[in-house]
Amino acid sequence: MNNPRASDIEHRKAEHLDICIHGDVESPLVSTGLERYRFRHTCLPELDFDDLDIQTTFLGWPLAAPLLISSMTGGTALAGKINRRLARAAQHFRIPMGVGSQRVLLEQPQIAETFAVREVAPDTPLLANIGAVQLNYGCGVDDCGKIIKILDANALILHLNPLQEAVQTRGDRNFKGLLPKIRDLCQQLEVPVIVKEVGNGISGAIADQLIQAGVAAIDVAGAGGTSWAKVEAARATDPRQRALGQTFADWGIPTADCLQDIRENHPDYPLIASGGLKNGLDVAKAIALGADLGGLARPFLQAAHISEEALFEHIEITLGELKTVLFCTGCKNLSQLHQGSSLLRNP
Ligand SMILES: Cc1cc2nc3c(=O)[nH]c(=O)nc-3n(C[C@H](O)[C@H](O)[C@H](O)COP(=O)(O)O)c2cc1C
Repeated sequence: MNNPRASDIEHRKAEHLDICIHGDVESPLVSTGLERYRFRHTCLPELDFDDLDIQTTFLGWPLAAPLLISSMTGGTALAGKINRRLARAAQHFRIPMGVGSQRVLLEQPQIAETFAVREVAPDTPLLANIGAVQLNYGCGVDDCGKIIKILDANALILHLNPLQEAVQTRGDRNFKGLLPKIRDLCQQLEVPVIVKEVGNGISGAIADQLIQAGVAAIDVAGAGGTSWAKVEAARATDPRQRALGQTFADWGIPTADCLQDIRENHPDYPLIASGGLKNGLDVAKAIALGADLGGLARPFLQAAHISEEALFEHIEITLGELKTVLFCTGCKNLSQLHQGSSLLRNP
C-alpha cells in the first residue's frame, strides 16, 4: 500500500485519542438539530415500565437495544485497552460495536491485538473499519477481506471523511472514482458494507448513490458532535492547516437533517443515526425521526477511559432514558416510537 509509515499512523491515533478524551472538540455553533424536537407527554400511558421492549433487529442481527458503539480506535496500547472495555460492554448489553480504522494493520499486522476483541465479545456484531478513500491508495478487496478476517467482523464500515483529510497534514485527498470501487466491494465481500461519515453528515442525494451501489446500511454521522476539523486543527503543526480546521469546525449537515433527508426516499432502508447523540433522549428522538439505531462515539470513549464500570453505568443510564421516553409517550416498543407520531417540533 502507498501509505505513510505505520508508526506515523500510530502516533496520529494516539493523538486523536488524547485530544478526543481531554480536549474541547465539539462543533462550537452547529448542533445536531435534535434540540428542535420534543416528545408529546402522555400522562396515562397504560403501560407497565417493566414490560417495555427495546429489542430490535438490524441487518439480521438480534439486538437487545437500538444502540451502537461507534467506530473509534485501535493501534496503540491504550486503544487496545479501550477497545476491550467497549467490547465487553457490547457483549454484556447485546449491542454492536465498531472498531477504529484498521488501515494500520495492513502495514503492521503485529498490532492486531489492539483490535482483537472477538474473544471478549463472542456474540457481538463487530464492525471492521477503513477509510473509503484508501480504495484509491492501494487498498483492494483482498485487504478489506484481511481486516474483516482479523477482527472476525460481521460487516465492514467504510468511512467517508473528505473534510478531515483536507485538514490533516498530508491527508489522502483523492476522492475521485470511489463510488464504482464501493460498488465492487459490495458485490465481492461476503459481509455487508456500511458507509458512514465521521461527523459531517450524509445527504439524501449521496445516500441515493450509495444505496444504488449496494451499500447495506448508512450511518449518517452528522454534524453537532465531535468535529474532526477541530480535532485535526488541535494537532496540526502547520499554522495554515490549523487555521483551516478552525474555519471548518462547524461544517456539516446536522444529524436530524440527514435522517429526514434520507428517510424521505428510503422509508425502510437500514439507517443509523450518529453524530452528537449524548443520551437516551437523543437516541429516542433519532429513532422517532427514522433511525433504526443510535450510535455514540465520544461519550462512550470518555466513559470507557475512566473505567469499565463507568462505561457500563453510562450505557445503563442511556437505556433507562430511552425506556423512559417510551413509557412517557405511551409507546410499548421501538416500532411505535419509530412511527414518530409523538414527536413535536418546537415552536
Ligand atoms: C477518538 C475517536 C476516533 C475515531 N476514529 C474513527 C475511525 O477510525 N473510523 C470512523 O469511521 N470513525 C471514527 N470516529 C468517528 C466516530 O465514529 C463518529 O462518527 C464521530 O465521532 C461522531 O460521533 P460523536 O459525536 O458521538 O463523537 C472516531 C471518533 C473518535 C471520538
